[in-house]
Amino acid sequence: MKVRERPSLKALNSFGVPARAGLLVTLEREEDVLELPFFDPRRDLVLGDGTNVLFVTDVPGTVIHNRLMGRSVVAEDGDSILLEVGAGENWHRLVRWTLRQGMTGLENLSLIPGCAGAAPLQNIGAYGVDLSSVLDRVTAWDWETAAWVSLGARECLLGYRDSLFRSVAPGRYLITSIRLRLPRTFRPRLDFAGLREELAAADIVRPSALDVSDAVIRLRRRKLPDPAAIGNAGSFFKNPVVNADRADQVLADHPGLPSWPVADGAVKLSAAWMIERCGLKGHRLGDAGVSDRHALVLVNHGGASGQQIWQVASAVQAAVAEAFGIPLEPEPRVVDFSR
Ligand code: FAD
Ligand code: EPU
Repeated sequence: MKVRERPSLKALNSFGVPARAGLLVTLEREEDVLELPFFDPRRDLVLGDGTNVLFVTDVPGTVIHNRLMGRSVVAEDGDSILLEVGAGENWHRLVRWTLRQGMTGLENLSLIPGCAGAAPLQNIGAYGVDLSSVLDRVTAWDWETAAWVSLGARECLLGYRDSLFRSVAPGRYLITSIRLRLPRTFRPRLDFAGLREELAAADIVRPSALDVSDAVIRLRRRKLPDPAAIGNAGSFFKNPVVNADRADQVLADHPGLPSWPVADGAVKLSAAWMIERCGLKGHRLGDAGVSDRHALVLVNHGGASGQQIWQVASAVQAAVAEAFGIPLEPEPRVVDFSR
């Protein structure tokens, strides 16, 4: 366990905004958890790779930087493999490693930044698949009972960009490892039209899992700004989900708005389209702005502060609420200890 006082968090968040913590504790071994100072979510924060956080203020207390590594096959039954993964393992490197080992199921989730321990927080998802299709269980330290817990996938309450860890009991658990159930037999999941088109464009008729992963990587590189080149946290807002009546009203007024049916008759609406329609794609406030490549991504052109990015986010929310009557909810964790 490494400990640093008053560290800068600038290199530890993909927006690249300046922020500091009181203390930074880097967790490298599971036993270190027992040595940690008591965690209080009103002043402390757990951090993985920092690709889904916006620091609006400093962190007055401790940042626990999760660097618990390890990948091990814990069981093989029939066609599926149970793989235990340390929370600090890089997600994309894990995806590519599983494919090289002949395990499938993660290919659609290629190139999502961040580490494995954060994946359950918002049930990471892309190109028609989300973590819930492969998650078996989560091991975590429960700060409330001061004990280790092993939570089955159903107990994690995974939903669209949501989970037990995010909305029901935020700050209660420190995830130390996740267990995935991965099949050896490849069952392609090509419901996402853009992915089918990408494979067709490469003349691939019967794709392997590796072909799907490569196609997802090409799509993502084309669509999304790279945080190494321009600070961002991916989609800044969730796509709003509304009931069927509300969807009918909005779609009658805005027939071009892309929408997708989801569970229980609800409808998911494209936040990017609404933001672009408000004329905000490429909008700037100093160095904070909306990406000119993708309207759902807020960016730091270089010297923006977290407050400035939050100001842009608030302006986007106000414009979409006025034009469409739809509230937009931020997707990243907005770290604001002044509230
Ligand atoms: P962090 O940003 O460090 O943390 C995120 C949240 O999880 C925080 O609330 C933090 O406190 C909490 N947390 C982190 N680790 C733990 C732990 N071990 N225990 C308890 N709490 C923890 N997401 C998608 O779902 N789909 C996408 O397609 C996608 N594309 C993206 C593209 C880009 C360019 C970027 C920058 C981001 C994208 N994201 C996407 C968001 C991001 O990749 C995911 O949310 C990822 O899981 C964040 O991992 P992280 O390690 O960086 O988490
Ligand atoms: N669109 C616009 N303007 C834009 C960009 C997109 O109008 O500038 C419209 C297009 O019509 C497009 C639609 O929005 O058809 C949807 O765009 P896209 O396919 O890029 O998906 P998204 O809804 O913007 C979601 C996830 C992404 C995930 C992709 C692919 C959320 C909040 N975002 O984005 O996840 O990678 O689908 O599955 O659900 C993330 O969470 O950080 C993230 C990047």
